[in-house]
Amino acid sequence: MKISKNMQKALNDQITLEANASSNYLAMASWCEITGYEGSANFFYAQSDEERTHLLKIVHYLNNLGIAAVIPATKSPASNFKSLESILKTALKNEQAVTAAIHKMVEISQKDKDHSTYAFLEWFVNEQVQEETKFETLIQKFELIGRDKIAINEIDKILAANATYAAADATV
Ligand code: FEO
Repeated sequence: MKISKNMQKALNDQITLEANASSNYLAMASWCEITGYEGSANFFYAQSDEERTHLLKIVHYLNNLGIAAVIPATKSPASNFKSLESILKTALKNEQAVTAAIHKMVEISQKDKDHSTYAFLEWFVNEQVQEETKFETLIQKFELIGRDKIAINEIDKILAANATYAAADATV
């Protein structure tokens, strides 16, 4: 089975995006850990692992088609964050960029009449809906609970509870 050069490039570019997402979340996890937000650290470590599973799905897809996947260098992630709220807002923005890239790939697959890649991408389309909703809901907590120390501690616990979901998703 053949996929277009354009599609191959888009999939390889997506590997880079997922790799950068994984290292961004790792930096966020590390900042949370050193700042004392233990639950949030667990959440972001799990999130980082999950991004790696996304990257691997694409690597395997390309390799199974006999197209060598390109393993990219990753950019150095930002590491000095302002607050837990700002991290979550950055995470949502990054996820929105990933969603846009995935939708672009879906359009390429439609244009190419590449039914295999179209079907392969369906999982990613659904995953992004969940990812964006997850971050939107977490960001809302600051309006609902507050931003003082007790509120942040509460939100940290909510992130901890979400970490298990992230880890469970990663095994799918
Ligand atoms: Fe793999 Fe969170 O996008």
